[in-house]
Amino acid sequence: MLGFSQTVAAGAALLLANYALAHPTSNGHHGITEKKPEDQIEYWKGGCTVHPLGGAQDDGPALLVAFDKCRSNSIINLPGPLYTVEKVLNSTLFNTTINLDGVIQYTPNITYWSPNSIFLEYQNATTAWYLSGENVTLQGSGGIDGSGQVWWNAYATLKSQGGSGVAGGSTRVFARPVPLAVARGKHITVDGISITNSPFWHSIIFESSYVTFKNIYMKSLSSNETGAPAANTDGWDTYRSDHIVIRDSVVINGDDCVSFKPNTTFAEVTNMYCDGSHGISVGSLGQYYGVADIVSDIYVKNITMLNAQNGARIKVFPGSNDTKSVSGGGTGYVRNITWENFDCENCDNPIIVTGCYNYDSNPKYCQQYPSTVQISDINLINFTGYASGANKVGNHTVGSIRCSGECENVTAKNIDLLWGRPGVNQTTGNYICTNVASLNQLDFPCQEVPYS
Ligand SMILES: *[C@@H]1O[C@H](CO)[C@@H](O)[C@H](O)[C@H]1NC(C)=O
Ligand SMILES: *[C@@H]1O[C@H](CO)[C@@H](O)[C@H](O)[C@H]1NC(C)=O
Ligand SMILES: *[C@@H]1O[C@H](CO)[C@@H](O)[C@H](O)[C@H]1NC(C)=O
Ligand SMILES: *[C@@H]1O[C@H](CO)[C@@H](O)[C@H](O)[C@H]1NC(C)=O
Ligand SMILES: *[C@@H]1O[C@H](CO)[C@@H](O)[C@H](O)[C@H]1NC(C)=O
Ligand SMILES: *[C@@H]1O[C@H](CO)[C@@H](O)[C@H](O)[C@H]1NC(C)=O
Ligand SMILES: *[C@@H]1O[C@H](CO)[C@@H](O)[C@H](O)[C@H]1NC(C)=O
Ligand SMILES: *[C@@H]1O[C@H](CO)[C@@H](O)[C@H](O)[C@H]1NC(C)=O
Ligand SMILES: *[C@@H]1O[C@H](CO)[C@@H](O)[C@H](O)[C@H]1NC(C)=O
Ligand SMILES: *[C@@H]1O[C@H](CO)[C@@H](O)[C@H](O)[C@H]1NC(C)=O
Ligand SMILES: *[C@@H]1O[C@H](CO)[C@@H](O)[C@H](O)[C@H]1NC(C)=O
Ligand SMILES: *[C@@H]1O[C@H](CO)[C@@H](O)[C@H](O)[C@H]1NC(C)=O
Repeated sequence: MLGFSQTVAAGAALLLANYALAHPTSNGHHGITEKKPEDQIEYWKGGCTVHPLGGAQDDGPALLVAFDKCRSNSIINLPGPLYTVEKVLNSTLFNTTINLDGVIQYTPNITYWSPNSIFLEYQNATTAWYLSGENVTLQGSGGIDGSGQVWWNAYATLKSQGGSGVAGGSTRVFARPVPLAVARGKHITVDGISITNSPFWHSIIFESSYVTFKNIYMKSLSSNETGAPAANTDGWDTYRSDHIVIRDSVVINGDDCVSFKPNTTFAEVTNMYCDGSHGISVGSLGQYYGVADIVSDIYVKNITMLNAQNGARIKVFPGSNDTKSVSGGGTGYVRNITWENFDCENCDNPIIVTGCYNYDSNPKYCQQYPSTVQISDINLINFTGYASGANKVGNHTVGSIRCSGECENVTAKNIDLLWGRPGVNQTTGNYICTNVASLNQLDFPCQEVPYS
């Protein structure tokens, strides 16, 4: 969220230099005779097949040739078993299907990826695979392995060098690449693949329309979760995109399962199993003064959410009197968002609307500068499960809907959430509300808690 300090940027440069020193000679070729990328590609009528070199040699150049030669009205077969990739995969395809049955493994070389990944102009996100074009299917039983551990370790080291409290995932100096970005594309489907060991968000849908992800398996867990957690490993982020479907997928991670970022409209997220995440979230929105952020027409249904920080979440920044603010004062709206059939088991905050993001500890500020992002037409239907009890705010709170500007037309029905662990300290859940105009449309009693 907040940028890295100069100190941390300097730390990142040092860290990258150290990495280069620790890996001075290896060029990854292990003495095997160099082949031309063309030699790895088998061309046939209607498509091409890429065979890996093996021995940890870079298959990136051959993949790029195939993405170019077979870029339209083609089939690209990637049978594997294992492609080692040390090149950014920039692919713009038309009427083309990629059959990914092998695994694409990004080389764990921070020195290479940091400067070379494609910059996405949002939260300093960068990607190692920029998948663009129209009428594209990426499918198969294979996947992408982001070699995340080296990035999580390096990120933890950076934080320990002075970045503590830094919420943001990356800077342009130390940019952890997203394994797969669907970017500036239309009618793109990703089906069946896995994305594991993600350095940062697993995937971003960026400036695209009509994008479907289904039957996806995502998993990113650190071998050192306490010292070097798999930080910022959101399942999906969506930005400036519309008509998105994400369904029938499994996400095991340590940050949002799905996060709707500014200007996401018409999205459906259904039949999801999320373990260890930070929930299915809208926002954060309204961060930049005068910039309009819109999230609307979102339907989230049939979610199993286990061991999560949040279940259903909206977060917007407060307003600001500073026209240069990068911490509130944005405009826009959150409208027509539904979460239905949501089973939240062991979630710290099963339902949470944060209307004064980043300033919760300063209620006077929230009162003085209410959010200028409007929130309306929010529906919560059929929630089951229980809060972990980790959140000590309020008394046995399972739902917290706190708006700094007024929230309109929030409805809740069939909400049956408990607080505390089964057989340990479980009890009925409580709800708190701030500036909710439609208390009579909530089927639970909501205690009004002003900012003061
Ligand atoms: C992006 O990176 C730059 C330079 O590293 C940094 O100053 C800025 O705060 C970062 N922005 C975000 C949103 O993280
Ligand atoms: C990626 O490919 C597109 C289309 O060919 C091109 O416009 C763009 O400059 C490339 N980006 C990078 C970083 O190579
Ligand atoms: C894609 O296929 C459609 C027909 O289905 C055709 O009209 C269009 O020209 C094709 N696109 C390209 C880039 O070849
Ligand atoms: C990592 O990438 C850098 C920059 O491309 C390169 O100089 C270095 O040899 C690579 N290191 C390894 C271990 O492959
Ligand atoms: C995508 O497919 C549709 C339907 O077949 C076709 O009309 C359109 O031209 C295709 N787009 C491109 C860029 O080829
Ligand atoms: C775990 O991470 C911490 C902090 O970065 C580090 O000090 C420690 O050595 C790591 N432990 C292992 C087993 O890698
Ligand atoms: C709900 O999602 C789960 C996967 O998490 C799936 O097994 C189940 O069939 C879905 N239920 C309905 C009614 O679609
Ligand atoms: C979102 O869309 C609105 C309306 O089209 C536009 O004014 C605003 O600049 C967009 N915001 C972002 C972050 O793209
Ligand atoms: C609300 O959003 C859903 C999901 O995109 C859409 O189907 C529905 O038509 C929208 N409702 C209104 C009133 O716009
Ligand atoms: C914003 O208001 C605060 C008082 O709440 C004041 O101290 C500050 O100078 C104001 N900032 C601007 C840019 O007007
Ligand atoms: C409520 O949601 C649960 C799963 O979260 C589902 O099993 C149940 O069928 C839903 N009830 C109704 C009435 O739809
Ligand atoms: C918690 O309970 C105490 C004592 O019953 C009450 O005074 C207080 O208002 C409650 N706080 C909240 C946030 O519900």
